[in-house]
Amino acid sequence: MTVLEAIQKSADFLGKKGVESPRLNAESLLAHLLKMPRMKLYLNFDRALTAPETDALRELVKRRGQREPLQHIVGSTSFCGHEISVSRHALVPRPETELLAEYGWNFLVTCHSSLVTVLDFGTGTGCLAIALAAKCPNAQITALDLSPDALALAKLNALQNKVAERIGFLQSDGFAALATGTQFDLIISNPPYIPSAEIETLQPEVRDFDPRAALDGGADGLDFYRWLAAEAKPFLKPEGKIMVEFGDGQADAIKNIFENEKWIVEAVQEDYSHRARIIIARNGEI
Ligand SMILES: C[S@@+](CC[C@H](N)C(=O)[O-])C[C@H]1O[C@@H](n2cnc3c(N)ncnc32)[C@H](O)[C@@H]1O
Repeated sequence: MTVLEAIQKSADFLGKKGVESPRLNAESLLAHLLKMPRMKLYLNFDRALTAPETDALRELVKRRGQREPLQHIVGSTSFCGHEISVSRHALVPRPETELLAEYGWNFLVTCHSSLVTVLDFGTGTGCLAIALAAKCPNAQITALDLSPDALALAKLNALQNKVAERIGFLQSDGFAALATGTQFDLIISNPPYIPSAEIETLQPEVRDFDPRAALDGGADGLDFYRWLAAEAKPFLKPEGKIMVEFGDGQADAIKNIFENEKWIVEAVQEDYSHRARIIIARNGEI
């Protein structure tokens, strides 16, 4: 079987299994197997696969057909240009969250200080902490998560991306483990925001492979916003900001939650599809 035939056959199989963008998935799996950039496949369409390569590809395509996420199969994803290892222990970083990182670093460069401090609340793979540490050499970041397994993965990612020396890892249920008096220039978070009952309706890649603790936002999906709005202020410097991602359709409810807790909402930002997805606020009681 040639490379082109393998792509066509795999894409056909994945399409029948309900995988979105089956051709792209087939190409990505084969490129991963052959250890070449996906585009290079196009220069190798006539190359014959060896028998072991064919067997290995069949195995990868079978896993993808069972709706295991592509990122889990290849072991990593790209986030703001950084390679981030992924596993069942943490949410696969999403492209929308890159925008949150961008708002974060655009704010940090306006803090004219030799040291800026950031709390990444619910760090997961550590993607936000790593992107901010890499972009802002004067940033010291606390990456907090409830899950020790997620924190171990985040630490590994920080080491692989050579920013581990400026990231502290903290296991904590909410703000509980943060020392009283600790204050940050920026609190950034992409908390769980799926209403509990909706988790079962999500696509299998998310429902069966992202950790439940990374998805479940309580009955209406808003538990973490209530929590952040009620408890984050003492951990923010007077000029500091909080930036939080949320789900499509949650903007009005979240704006109300923050305003009721006397935050000044500076902006609600949209994602690439023009859906409101990020709230930026500061303490309105100062
Ligand atoms: C939606 S994931 C976000 C991961 C990562 N920041 C990202 O954007 O890809 C939310 C994270 O919050 C963590 N989390 C859930 N409940 C928590 C709690 N009570 N305290 C701290 N972290 C929590 C989960 O373990 C998960 O890693």
